[in-house]
Amino acid sequence: MAEIGSDISKARTVLQNGGLVAIPTETVYGLAASALDLDAVALIFSTKNRPSFDPLIVHVENITEAKKYAVNWAEKALVLAKEFWPGPLTLLLEKRDSISDLVTSGMQKVAIRVPNQKLTLDLLHVLDFPLVAPSANPFGYVSPTSPTHVNDQLGDKIPYILNGGNCEIGLESTIVGFDTTDEPTIYRLGGLSVEEIESVIGKVNLTPHSSSNPQAPGMLKSHYSPSVSILLGNVKTNLKKFINKNDIGIISFNSRFENLPEKNQLKLAPDNHLNTAAKNLFSALRYMDTLKIRTLLIEEVPDYGLGKAINDRLRRAATR
Ligand code: TXA
Ligand code: MG
Repeated sequence: MAEIGSDISKARTVLQNGGLVAIPTETVYGLAASALDLDAVALIFSTKNRPSFDPLIVHVENITEAKKYAVNWAEKALVLAKEFWPGPLTLLLEKRDSISDLVTSGMQKVAIRVPNQKLTLDLLHVLDFPLVAPSANPFGYVSPTSPTHVNDQLGDKIPYILNGGNCEIGLESTIVGFDTTDEPTIYRLGGLSVEEIESVIGKVNLTPHSSSNPQAPGMLKSHYSPSVSILLGNVKTNLKKFINKNDIGIISFNSRFENLPEKNQLKLAPDNHLNTAAKNLFSALRYMDTLKIRTLLIEEVPDYGLGKAINDRLRRAATR
């Protein structure tokens, strides 16, 4: 198992020597390596079992640092960065030569963000290189939102997990890119809502959900768990389809169901708030994976604000 602690100089030493460190962010935990050390970057792909056509996000301390790795910023990109960094926003920008094709999977654009997490910002401050960090989970599984989640799945492969406790937001960052005329498009719904983005730069395009097209960022479908099948829809209706309810799990927004063991049902938001649901979502899926259930019934949450990103993740988890 990995060591879990909050020693920044220890994390720095591992990273300087080409090793991997799991880092906390406000969205999810990342599996970090020096973005400028190609062996370390390659180690991320093999550790996660991630296909090399799925590019990595570069994490930096602030806008000034970001400008060292990306050029020709659209005006709206800069507006968003100033408004929302540090925060759950990733920008797709034209890369400089210092960013390797291995990081971007050969694409001309690099994904960059400034995470809003004290320990990780302190770490970035003492490093003289940026960090690439995909979510710290094996490829295809949901993202980790606590050090324990990381340790459970990658603990035997990495030396150190920087402990920032539970992630504040619980959903990955929202990815925004710009076309040749600088028009903004959201490529992945995430911890920064569409409404918040539009309140600052006006209408943005949304890439359609679906397809496992690796060219479309954030669009790879997740399979979640090989042993649990997910039925997404009205839980009350779907529950009637099962005579034996003992191997059923339920994740609801905020409802309780009769005739089902208490331990087999979870509410995402006992307080009815979407940000609570976001925070609990991935832990809830992980919890259900530890039960001996065959079917997981889940209902979508209200489809606005963070709810859009939550529903997106639920649909992906339900995909086979
Ligand atoms: O909140 C987050 O973004 C977390 C934390 C750790 O920062 N990171 C994260 O990384 O979710 P990852 O690798 O699990 O997801 C990054 C997504 C992938 O779907 C990838 O395809 C897309 O970003 N992406 C990265 N670089 C890209 C690029 N140059 N062009 C297009 N898409 C890119
Ligand atoms: Mg991921």
